[in-house]
Amino acid sequence: MLLLVFYAVVAAVVAQNDKPTAKSVTPHREQFRVIYEWRSVDFEWESPDDRESYLNTSSYIPKNVLISGINFYGDNLYMTLPRMLNGVPATLAMIPAFQNETTAPKLKPFPSWAQNKLGDCAALQFVQNIEIDRNSIMWILDNGRVGTLTPKPDSKCPPSIVLIDLKTGNNEMERIPLPGDIVNPNTTYLNDLVVDNRDGDYAYITDNSAVDPGIIVFRRSDKKIWKLRDKRSMSSVPEATLFRINGTTVNLPVNVDGIALGPQFRTEDQTIDRTVYYCPLSSYHMYAINASILRNESLGEQGDGALQPYVVDLGTKTSQTDGMKMDSTGILFYGLIGNSTIAEWNTTTDFRTGQRTIARDPNYIQWVDRFTFDDRGNIYVMVNRLFNFVKNQVSIEEVNYRILRSHTGLKSYIYGEDLSPPSGPGHQHGGAAVPTIAASILLLLFSHILV
Ligand SMILES: *[C@@H]1O[C@H](CO)[C@@H](O)[C@H](O)[C@H]1NC(C)=O
Ligand SMILES: *[C@@H]1O[C@H](CO)[C@@H](O)[C@H](O)[C@H]1NC(C)=O
Ligand SMILES: *[C@@H]1O[C@H](CO)[C@@H](O)[C@H](O)[C@H]1NC(C)=O
Ligand SMILES: *[C@@H]1O[C@H](CO)[C@@H](O)[C@H](O)[C@H]1NC(C)=O
Ligand SMILES: *[C@@H]1O[C@H](CO)[C@@H](O)[C@H](O)[C@H]1NC(C)=O
Ligand SMILES: *[C@@H]1O[C@H](CO)[C@@H](O)[C@H](O)[C@H]1NC(C)=O
Ligand SMILES: *[C@@H]1O[C@H](CO)[C@@H](O)[C@H](O)[C@H]1NC(C)=O
Ligand SMILES: *[C@@H]1O[C@H](CO)[C@@H](O)[C@H](O)[C@H]1NC(C)=O
Repeated sequence: MLLLVFYAVVAAVVAQNDKPTAKSVTPHREQFRVIYEWRSVDFEWESPDDRESYLNTSSYIPKNVLISGINFYGDNLYMTLPRMLNGVPATLAMIPAFQNETTAPKLKPFPSWAQNKLGDCAALQFVQNIEIDRNSIMWILDNGRVGTLTPKPDSKCPPSIVLIDLKTGNNEMERIPLPGDIVNPNTTYLNDLVVDNRDGDYAYITDNSAVDPGIIVFRRSDKKIWKLRDKRSMSSVPEATLFRINGTTVNLPVNVDGIALGPQFRTEDQTIDRTVYYCPLSSYHMYAINASILRNESLGEQGDGALQPYVVDLGTKTSQTDGMKMDSTGILFYGLIGNSTIAEWNTTTDFRTGQRTIARDPNYIQWVDRFTFDDRGNIYVMVNRLFNFVKNQVSIEEVNYRILRSHTGLKSYIYGEDLSPPSGPGHQHGGAAVPTIAASILLLLFSHILV
């Protein structure tokens, strides 16, 4: 009955006014469209009285509810609502991904209202991001600490990884508290994660703790964790702490934040590896490291510097990036906050010349927070004007949260191809030369374009 209003985002597919490098061929993509937008977040309450009593007791303060992360599963979009301020009644919730009734659907707490209860350590407290793997396991990062933007953050519960097997339908939560000697409950900030479904399932998690940033590795098979540090690539840098967007300037020195996982590849000695990409929020650089290095527990014990020989600085972006997302073939999507831009990079090309603008709009693209893919070839972008939130200048008379969608024909890195392990000693030296030749052709191609 009701029409869903779609606003076309004025997407500059390969913006004409970009640098010369943007002239090379970019596959045509459908423009991004707004599918949902909210001035403030409201919920599906258990009764109208509940909404009123939550409002009466300041347990629900509409302008304090920020939408941050987004993930797709089974025709639903799951969204995270980190409890940075007071008055956030639930920290994880869902909406239908496809419906025609409203542009501002009410959020349904997930798994339930009870499992989002503030102060109950069996329930979710502060979820910044989640991932859903290829076996339908939802991996939830619960920091346990709430009020992170208030003068008195409260470490209510231990930082934990919470797993839910979505296949079963009963949404039972398996909570794994992280050991205090590795993850300090007062300072850790479990920000984002990628899941690597092999050899017992690993999560690589960015911890943007202001005092001890790093990448935490969690192995699901034995629930073991370790933390790897590299100050040089995981810390904010002074020249990138200022964010200028929509007439507002914010100073945010935030450490390692976005993380993405590339497709499997075979190394010279025929082992299988993957590249992990990451960047601090307050930095212009993109970094890469091989997953096999992160999975080496002994590097966790060696402290800062142990990782340094293995970290590659891929080069710079024109602005800062919050979340990013890889597809199954190695195409990386990320935001450029100060440029109101969504960008992509084919990771088989040189980062310095291979970045492409796929959408730019100063009104609709105000702080890209996170991305997700669905199972029909669409990519979704969560835009949340975070600069207004951290400056405490959110106006609920304006649209603050938008979900944009575009058809790309791609799917998440989660569904990347599994390479078969080496079959025998006969294959020791095959294939290695091929990528080298391909890479040099690619470089020639780019130097030609650059002339
Ligand atoms: C909320 O507060 C109003 C005004 O004080 C009061 O009339 C109402 O009964 C309260 N509602 C609930 C559900 O507590
Ligand atoms: C929404 O509307 C479109 C066009 O009218 C229709 O094709 C689609 O099936 C509808 N989707 C749902 C979930 O109702
Ligand atoms: C965390 O902070 C609380 C309260 O200030 C303190 O009692 C506790 O010792 C701290 N824990 C750690 C691991 O620093
Ligand atoms: C990962 O390992 C491969 C094979 O050993 C190597 O060629 C590549 O440079 C490494 N990548 C990074 C980011 O260090
Ligand atoms: C892990 O790192 C240590 C210390 O650098 C090194 O000696 C060891 O060979 C590495 N293990 C693997 C499996 O790569
Ligand atoms: C992108 O944003 C940065 C600030 O983050 C600014 O210095 C730069 O000029 C912008 N570039 C373009 C092409 O808009
Ligand atoms: C990425 O680059 C590789 C090598 O140039 C190419 O084969 C592939 O088609 C590209 N992917 C996309 C989606 O353009
Ligand atoms: C900020 O964004 C709003 C909403 O798109 C727009 O109406 C306003 O003009 C923008 N302000 C500035 C200073 O860019």
